[in-house]
Amino acid sequence: MSTIKSSFLVATILMLLLLDFTVDAQSSADVVFPLKRYGNIVPGTDITKALANAWKDACTSNRSSAIVIPGGIYKVKEGIFKGPCNSPIDFQLGGTLQAPKSLQGDNWITFEHIDRLTLSGEGVFDGQGKAAWKKNDCHKHINCAQLPISLRFNFITNSIVKRITSLDSKNFHINVLGCNNLTFHNVNITAPENSPNTDGIHIGRSNRIAITMSKIATGDDCISLGDGSKQINITNVTCGPGHGISIGSLGRYTNEEPVEGVIVNNCTIINTTNGVRIKTWPASAASGTATNMQFLDIIMVNVSNPILIDQEYCPWNQCNRKIPSKIKISKVSFKNIRGSCATPVAIKLICSRHLPCDEVKVGDIDLTYNGINGPITSQCTNVRPIISGKQNPKICSSPYVVP
Ligand SMILES: *[C@@H]1O[C@H](CO)[C@@H](O)[C@H](O)[C@H]1NC(C)=O
Ligand SMILES: *[C@@H]1O[C@H](CO)[C@@H](O)[C@H](O)[C@H]1NC(C)=O
Ligand SMILES: *[C@@H]1O[C@H](CO)[C@@H](O)[C@H](O)[C@H]1NC(C)=O
Ligand SMILES: *[C@@H]1O[C@H](CO)[C@@H](O)[C@H](O)[C@H]1NC(C)=O
Ligand SMILES: *[C@@H]1O[C@H](CO)[C@@H](O)[C@H](O)[C@H]1NC(C)=O
Ligand SMILES: *[C@@H]1O[C@H](CO)[C@@H](O)[C@H](O)[C@H]1NC(C)=O
Ligand SMILES: *[C@@H]1O[C@H](CO)[C@@H](O)[C@H](O)[C@H]1NC(C)=O
Ligand SMILES: *[C@@H]1O[C@H](CO)[C@@H](O)[C@H](O)[C@H]1NC(C)=O
Repeated sequence: MSTIKSSFLVATILMLLLLDFTVDAQSSADVVFPLKRYGNIVPGTDITKALANAWKDACTSNRSSAIVIPGGIYKVKEGIFKGPCNSPIDFQLGGTLQAPKSLQGDNWITFEHIDRLTLSGEGVFDGQGKAAWKKNDCHKHINCAQLPISLRFNFITNSIVKRITSLDSKNFHINVLGCNNLTFHNVNITAPENSPNTDGIHIGRSNRIAITMSKIATGDDCISLGDGSKQINITNVTCGPGHGISIGSLGRYTNEEPVEGVIVNNCTIINTTNGVRIKTWPASAASGTATNMQFLDIIMVNVSNPILIDQEYCPWNQCNRKIPSKIKISKVSFKNIRGSCATPVAIKLICSRHLPCDEVKVGDIDLTYNGINGPITSQCTNVRPIISGKQNPKICSSPYVVP
């Protein structure tokens, strides 16, 4: 090869590398829609309109596209990012988006009917919930002011959400509805321990959802799985403070779909009121099922109720505990769960008198309680667990005490 030819080749490769670096530092998208093209994007300003316009262009693009939001703090009144879109979209959040402090209604940022969405960046969705929490009494009253969920994913398929932070949501941080093949990876969710109803990620009516390598610290359930949650993997998640990882509550409403195929794996749960639990309402509105649920390799640190099946879940006495739940729970496995408890009742398996739990396996449990309220115990009712390996405490060692 001649020197001219080879130096030309080197120059071309260098140019390609440079191009690749400048146009496309993080995204593999064909076209980038920098937000600054849609207005004077100065930190502190409201970018609601610029975002809506950038979305319109990205969504109608016939080539894969990226929306890039730069670093800095910006205000967003409301963001509804709707598909279907013509190509995959990369939504890159570099900065912080702030919700209005007084926002009401049930949504702030919504992604809807999109296939192949990537939501990424080191950015923050700041729900600014502090003022709203004081007014939140929805856990006690059905007729209460509706507060917005920070991030909604409705009917999203084949998509990934990574590295973002959700901070101080007014209501749930993230709600997943009607999605299929959606992964949350390296997501950070933060709200104070005493913030009401700030569930981390709530999933309902969705298939193949994975939550991996994430950290959730909040005032309610870290992760909750509602009816119709199927093939859900929760791996390498740290939860706490909060109310733990929960399946349910189920059975409050009619027309609920089954829950099946849940794996909670390699998680650490710290300083929470519950560890892993399945909860169903007594006096269920209709019958239903929850099956094939595994909880394995979990570390508990100072958790009040580490392992819990509660088919008499009835917060604030909103129901009649005497009428048994009509949700059938089966094929549950609790395996290799270690650590410390904050109360002596480490394991509670409270199943329905009407439909006892089937095939509940409990193995390799090693929990300790160092408090002053007596020895560590385990209570069971309407269940005959299949026991293996280490049993600390001894499974079903003490009688069930009706609350
Ligand atoms: C995308 O492709 C469709 C059909 O091929 C065409 O009608 C439309 O104008 C294209 N949109 C853009 C923004 O080029
Ligand atoms: C699930 O979504 C991911 C991310 O978009 C994609 O790479 C993968 O191919 C999808 N899986 C299936 C089975 O479609
Ligand atoms: C999570 O977000 C909070 C609030 O922005 C921040 O203080 C914390 O450092 C973040 N944690 C991780 C692991 O990124
Ligand atoms: C969940 O994990 C199982 C077993 O490791 C795997 O086969 C499946 O693809 C995973 N599902 C999702 C949605 O990641
Ligand atoms: C969980 O973390 C381990 C290492 O700590 C890693 O090997 C594994 O791939 C991770 N799994 C997922 C699904 O992120
Ligand atoms: C769990 O973590 C261990 C090491 O920490 C790792 O080897 C294993 O692959 C992880 N399991 C999953 C399903 O990620
Ligand atoms: C658990 O909570 C206590 C009291 O709030 C706190 O002092 C401790 O640091 C927390 N533990 C961990 C591991 O975060
Ligand atoms: C354990 O949790 C309780 C609250 O449930 C808290 O008061 C206590 O400080 C925690 N203890 C430790 C050692 O973190």
